[in-house]
Amino acid sequence: MKALILSGGKGTRLRPLTYTGAKQLVPVANKPILWYGIEEMVAAGITDIGIVISPETGEEVRNKTGDGSLFGAKITYILQDEPAGLAHAVKVARPFLGDSPFVMYLGDNLIQQGDLKLFLAQFIEKQPDALILLRYVENPSAFGVAQIDGDGNVINLVEKPKHPPSNLALVGVYFFAATIHDAIAQIKPSLRGELEITDAIQCLIDNQKQVIACQLEGWWLDTGKKDDLLEANRLILDTYLEKQVEVQTDSQSQIIGRVSIGEGSQIINSTIRGPVVIGKNCYLENCFIGPYTSIADNVVLIETDVEHSVILESAKISRIHQRIIDSVVGQRAILGAASRRPKALRFMIGDDCQIELT
Ligand code: TTP
Repeated sequence: MKALILSGGKGTRLRPLTYTGAKQLVPVANKPILWYGIEEMVAAGITDIGIVISPETGEEVRNKTGDGSLFGAKITYILQDEPAGLAHAVKVARPFLGDSPFVMYLGDNLIQQGDLKLFLAQFIEKQPDALILLRYVENPSAFGVAQIDGDGNVINLVEKPKHPPSNLALVGVYFFAATIHDAIAQIKPSLRGELEITDAIQCLIDNQKQVIACQLEGWWLDTGKKDDLLEANRLILDTYLEKQVEVQTDSQSQIIGRVSIGEGSQIINSTIRGPVVIGKNCYLENCFIGPYTSIADNVVLIETDVEHSVILESAKISRIHQRIIDSVVGQRAILGAASRRPKALRFMIGDDCQIELT
């Protein structure tokens, strides 16, 4: 059994962060999203892992993630020249996959830890051509939707349907036998110009191959947009964070609840109410850091209140006299109050930024 993790793509929905980096490396609770997927594979016993990368962000993914030794796995990187669709990624990965069965995992998705093992056991026991995961959603029109019969066989798949046949959306985790390659060879690019994995699975169904579905009860998040990223951060901090404070704080500071603070960070006259994770070598003075906040390494915060937010590496925020909530602040971003007159707002804002002022 092999794993194929997709870490290419365009990442348009997470701009501007994706202008300077891979969306799969954006941290959730200070760990790259992609790494959760790798760890999930290893926990399920799959250690031969291929990662599909793009020419734009591939080097960064490779440099950060390495050869797999960090995870007890063997990682092979597979270059996809253009983001021509999920099925195209499988096609490009064929030399790595050979005729092995494999699990395909979207590198910007997160599923509840421990769940993958259970579905892998189903796939091995039932040996279908494909096993897909479905999850109940309120707004199926925004997803790929499946129709299943009473025995759990998939009879139809539709992409973003106006009249959804069910509320069961396709989760970004798929198990395939080698027959998927014949199906991919038969499909044509969709209207948006991509080779769609849903078309390949539909082709399996049309050719009387067995496609079965399992329902995911645990959570699943596609971190492709800001609010989903914040929700993923909240869930991971809520579920897995353990208290681990490696630094001395001064007597004016209060650390409440599950808070993790990395080496070399200084906390001065500040209150931190968990769950919160703070990386290494940060400097916080006169701050309140509220629940569900992740602060990466080398961040400086002065007279700043932050809650339910993700602050990336080396950002600096000072003297903002309103609480910052529901926000993602990019690497090296600087946010501060001006001391010079006239009192006014002064910006240097990159493309596709979103700013809300009251
Ligand atoms: P998506 O998030 O559906 O696509 P995208 O990355 O192009 O994002 P956006 O809609 O914001 O522009 O892709 C799901 C995952 O699969 C993601 O981790 C990127 C990866 N991917 C590839 O590796 N190759 C591809 O050809 C595509 C389309 C996606």
